[in-house]
Amino acid sequence: MDYQNLLVESEEGVCIITFNRPQVLNALSRATMLELATAIERAEGDEQVRCIILTGAGAKAFVAGADIHELHAIPNGTVGAEFATWGQGILFSIENLRKPVIAAINGYALGGGCELAMACDIRIAADTAKLGQPEINLGIIPGYGGTQRLPRLVGKSYAKWLILSGETISAQEALRVGLVDKVVPSSELMATAIELAHRIAGKPALALALAKNSINVGSEVDLVSACAYEASQFGLACATEDRVEGTVAFLEKRPAQFKGK
Ligand code: COA
Repeated sequence: MDYQNLLVESEEGVCIITFNRPQVLNALSRATMLELATAIERAEGDEQVRCIILTGAGAKAFVAGADIHELHAIPNGTVGAEFATWGQGILFSIENLRKPVIAAINGYALGGGCELAMACDIRIAADTAKLGQPEINLGIIPGYGGTQRLPRLVGKSYAKWLILSGETISAQEALRVGLVDKVVPSSELMATAIELAHRIAGKPALALALAKNSINVGSEVDLVSACAYEASQFGLACATEDRVEGTVAFLEKRPAQFKGK
């Protein structure tokens, strides 16, 4: 497939998906979202890909939100709800992907851009990045999971501050409140994200998927159920060839050769 709104490149186990509409600060049109869904599905199906990075083209924006022209064209509440549910589905597919996804936030991550970053597993921001949920200024609310994932990351109170005020915060402030995991100089962003992606790509693929799934599922249920779920996922990890290889390699004092089996 020829992408119109994305750049997709894979190298040494890492797939980099770049939102490529810099003239509108990489705003998420429906067409962009559909291409994203396709790119994600392909990355999931490609055995060579073991970690994914999402980033934005140009120095200014990661993603400056859903496309406001399209938001303006929504004719009524029913279509609005469908629009949100559809976008949420694509973000769930990122969150539930069996492979780790890193957001390399190179600039504005606003509205749908912030929501997209929150659906990723790990967030690294350039020191020039700015994040926020400014939907309130348009007379709407976040619709791609922002009212739910933001409080889970930063707590209810600060999430309300951001969503009700529509304020945009710096990368350093996002780091302080736990919205991003690391802030690096803008010039080092991609190198940092790619280095982490390569390190993760070298880990056993099935264990990566089980760990991600255990955290995602467990963080939405009570502790006892979460630990029971963890035990089931631990059991699945124990049944892999990579568990045998990883433990034998340790005991033989040699590097493990994981096969993703
Ligand atoms: N949807 C559609 N177009 C967008 C957009 C969006 N979410 N965000 C920016 N653009 C467009 C602008 O309309 C402008 O297009 P133009 O050159 O045809 O006028 C272009 O991208 C550049 O943006 P501009 O506003 O001129 O840049 P700026 O540096 O002055 O401001 C922002 C940057 C991010 C503060 C500002 O663009 C903005 O507030 N964007 C909307 C953010 C938002 O509300 N997102 C949530 C949507 S739910």
